[in-house]
Amino acid sequence: MAQKIVAGNWKMNLDLEQSLQLIEGLNTKEFKNDVRVIVFPPSLFLQPISAVCDGSFELGVQNFSENEKGAFTGEISINQIESVGGTVGLIGHSERRAYNGESNELLKAKVNHCIENNFDFIFCCGEPLSVREAGNELSFVKKQLEASLFHLTADQIAGGVIAYEPVWAIGTGKTASVAQAEDMHMNIRSWLNEKYGAQVSNNVSILYGGSCNASNAKELLSCPNVDGGLIGGASLKVDDFNAIIHSY
Ligand code: PGA
Repeated sequence: MAQKIVAGNWKMNLDLEQSLQLIEGLNTKEFKNDVRVIVFPPSLFLQPISAVCDGSFELGVQNFSENEKGAFTGEISINQIESVGGTVGLIGHSERRAYNGESNELLKAKVNHCIENNFDFIFCCGEPLSVREAGNELSFVKKQLEASLFHLTADQIAGGVIAYEPVWAIGTGKTASVAQAEDMHMNIRSWLNEKYGAQVSNNVSILYGGSCNASNAKELLSCPNVDGGLIGGASLKVDDFNAIIHSY
């Protein structure tokens, strides 16, 4: 059984005071034991958030370097992240692919760097609108996975998490239908099965992301092949994020 996960990607939102307020709201709610909750604040606030974190959820980073350490101005390393309580990294978010020019090769290097350092990651994939309209979403997403993730061995990928985030649904208020989400997730699981076998494919968590909110989460997250959500906008509102976690 794949682990259920609800993750909040705050992106470049909130100042320190607002971040701590949001976390305080999360700390006061009881999460279900079987749901892994991960919050991705701006890295700048990892340490102060970590200091008040009650252990009911994990902290992750939206970005990190594929290098160990050294002369990489502006970058942060896995070691530094771990030293302030971060345990998970996002890789391949469509915004970083689009605005920061992150290539498949770079994403592969980040995946490898996580494996070498035993650092958890969520690997994001998803097609733009033009690809969906042309009916090529399955081959597009499969290529993204083959280019940066499917070189891993079965043992290495077993601890990984994939997030399917159709680009046309991110921050647009336009959500994939239950049928669209389930179809893609089912295909991702079948590619994992073909390459790594049933045990691995049943254990890799596949999250949905893209305008998932308190009203539609229950329906989306209850799809048989959807193991949780990567939530952007709605993770900034304490009641909405708590409601999504409790939709399980
Ligand atoms: P959204 O973002 O929920 O605001 O659409 C999701 C994401 O980018 O991870």
